[in-house]
Amino acid sequence: MNKRVVFTGGSGKAGRHVVPYLTDRGYQVFNLDLAPLEQPGVNTLTADLADSGQVFNALSMHFDFGGLESGKGPPAVDAVVHFAAVPRILLRPDNTTFQVNTQSTYNVIEAAVKLGIRKIIIASSETTYGVCFAEGDKDYHSFPLEEDYDTDPMDSYGLSKVVNEKTARAFAMRSGADIYALRIGNVIEPHEYELFPAFLADPPSRKRNAWSYIDARDLGQIVDLCLQKDGLGFQVFNAVNDTITAREPTAEFLHRWAPGTPVTRPLEGFEAPLSNRKIREVLGFKEEHDWRKYVPE
Ligand SMILES: NC(=O)c1ccc[n+]([C@@H]2O[C@H](COP(=O)([O-])OP(=O)(O)OC[C@H]3O[C@@H](n4cnc5c(N)ncnc54)[C@H](O)[C@@H]3O)[C@@H](O)[C@H]2O)c1
Repeated sequence: MNKRVVFTGGSGKAGRHVVPYLTDRGYQVFNLDLAPLEQPGVNTLTADLADSGQVFNALSMHFDFGGLESGKGPPAVDAVVHFAAVPRILLRPDNTTFQVNTQSTYNVIEAAVKLGIRKIIIASSETTYGVCFAEGDKDYHSFPLEEDYDTDPMDSYGLSKVVNEKTARAFAMRSGADIYALRIGNVIEPHEYELFPAFLADPPSRKRNAWSYIDARDLGQIVDLCLQKDGLGFQVFNAVNDTITAREPTAEFLHRWAPGTPVTRPLEGFEAPLSNRKIREVLGFKEEHDWRKYVPE
């Protein structure tokens, strides 16, 4: 039978692309969100994930009316993909951003583990690398940014994502479930490639994103690969595309635009400063949406 996946935050910017990527590949998806999602075949349950009771309930329900036909109650859920969040600072008061993101992630992971769901994927963020929402012009410790970096955000949102990674690790240790945290780069939807000429013309403007990005459809591929790859326990994966958002090779570019930041290994060609080597090597990620396809020279 096709895998049954509960997806949280499917109505948002990233979810709107990742959910259809998954349903196109045969997954049955049930969306938990506060906002609606107009996608035929995907039912959205309005649920506030900051409320643990609602989360336990939502993870043990029928996905839609079709579920009633067997007469045997809701079948097991194979995986949970947790994307719902307050997605940056300055949308809600800082304490609310921290509270909603940490509490809802705790609730989703706890309920999934206690209900016997063995695969959980959560949205972490590039902001854990500490520069994105920093006060002032902060430097990265070193390049490339890889998953063993000493994450050190100073903002409430980035901090909530660091805490969420720790929550994931604690539950993976406790239960033996696979819990993968995706440090998602700046999400780019197809229509947003029109922003790239301005990015290229003003390199300092993209320092906070480490001159890296993730195409929303390629993010779908990464989630699919995580759903397929079992047995890795707790993992952190950078979720970004292959190359730097610049026309210059990475080593030369960083020498010019981040001159004080040490480089810890040779940088190959145009590789992204926020490295995706781990998803390529461990999950077999092959990007389909290089920004150069969509941005005229
Ligand atoms: N957009 C980016 O560039 C980016 C970068 C790195 C990480 N992320 C992370 O990826 C995930 C998706 O981001 P996005 O850009 O699609 O965000 P979004 O705000 O567009 O979507 C998030 C969704 O979560 C829902 N939600 C929020 N609080 C909820 C709650 N308490 N209960 C139920 N649903 C709730 C919202 O209604 C929304 O539909 C988030 O976890 C975000 O932190 C995003």
